Amino acid sequence: MPVTAVVGAQWGDEGKGKITDLLAQEADVVIRFQGGNNAGHTVVNQHGTFKLHLVPSGIFNPNALCIVGPGTVVNLQVLCEELANLERNGIRTGNLRVADRAHLLMPWHVAIDRLDERERGRQKLGTTGQGVGPAYADKVSRHGIQVYEVRDERRFRERVAHELERQKKVLERYGDAPLDAKAVADEVLAAAATLGDRIVDTLPLVERALQTDARILLEGQLGAMRDLDWGIYPYVTSSNPLAGGASVGAGIPPRYITKVIGVVKAYSTAVGEGPFPTEMAGGEGDALRERANEYGATTGRPRRVGWFDAVAARHAHRLNAFTELAVTKLDVLGAYREIPFCVGYELDGALTTDMPPTAVLERAVPRYEKLAGWCDPLSGVADRAHLPEAARAYLSRIEAVVGAPIGMVGIGPERSATLL
Ligand code: IMP
Repeated sequence: MPVTAVVGAQWGDEGKGKITDLLAQEADVVIRFQGGNNAGHTVVNQHGTFKLHLVPSGIFNPNALCIVGPGTVVNLQVLCEELANLERNGIRTGNLRVADRAHLLMPWHVAIDRLDERERGRQKLGTTGQGVGPAYADKVSRHGIQVYEVRDERRFRERVAHELERQKKVLERYGDAPLDAKAVADEVLAAAATLGDRIVDTLPLVERALQTDARILLEGQLGAMRDLDWGIYPYVTSSNPLAGGASVGAGIPPRYITKVIGVVKAYSTAVGEGPFPTEMAGGEGDALRERANEYGATTGRPRRVGWFDAVAARHAHRLNAFTELAVTKLDVLGAYREIPFCVGYELDGALTTDMPPTAVLERAVPRYEKLAGWCDPLSGVADRAHLPEAARAYLSRIEAVVGAPIGMVGIGPERSATLL
């Protein structure tokens, strides 16, 4: 396996956790390169069902080194809770490393995320409320605290006190009680002590892995439509979930990433606000949501559901140059006689297949083709050739409109329910 990036090609929640879990069985190193505990990667395997927020999905492979990369923002307390939960379930977590250059996601970031959303009122972004945006904002405005800073306790306490003093004004403006610097520092230092020497400079590890041809997997969070630069700004996350972001966020020179797997659901889902052209209305959406259990893994929010949007997936392909696609949840569509499939947007009397900017996208009307459905269950199907004819035609249509071949097809939640 060369260096492989697994990234989302839609609005997030495409099923990257499952695909990464599968590929991680063959990987030596798995790296989360952006985001924080806004992620909710659902993994179903022989150990049970897990929702991973910060820990790379490679944690179930005892031989893989799992890195929370320098491009992430890390809530150390949440990370420790997640590790403790895995340990309770018999998963060994000694192979986890946290990049010392990653930024700390501090309690004030969580508070500000929620307060900012409240202040935005009807213009709210629908964030996960985990503090990810404010943590990246501090990073970019050069106020962030990096993970390695916990090593010098006296200096760290000063930094926390200083930053809290600054943040106090923000919290006060929102009418919120100030946070106690000592309590905040104690909490973070305790979590850092639990992690101990698992906080490291990850660059030498990554360099050694590249020099020894180790199999490296880069695990993305979210999808292209929520990318800070190319998504539906401002309804985006504060980092770059694209393969380009993987290079910087993991510390892998771009030329080493030779395989980019774009994960797409056979339909579309989104949590949070912003335009979502193929969204299903009312009862139709409710039915699919229930059938596919489409609820946010981090927030429990009902996900918005829609038909497959080839404009969005092609937009993602243009930005990522997928070497292959992994289509997930194909089984869920096995309930329709006909399946609407969006091939373009009608805008101001013309048809486009380019992704317009957000305010224009709000006006886009999807142009649908009607593809034949299949009503047979897919369980037990062992390869693509044995799928019902209509399901095969559906996959071929995805390949044709996106422009990338499909390498994997998910037909159920378990690791084994994947056609390769
Ligand atoms: P944030 O990343 O919490 O700031 O949220 C920004 C946007 O990304 C919101 O629309 C969230 O609902 C969405 N988002 C963040 N993380 C995930 C995820 O793991 N899956 C799906 N949507 C997400």
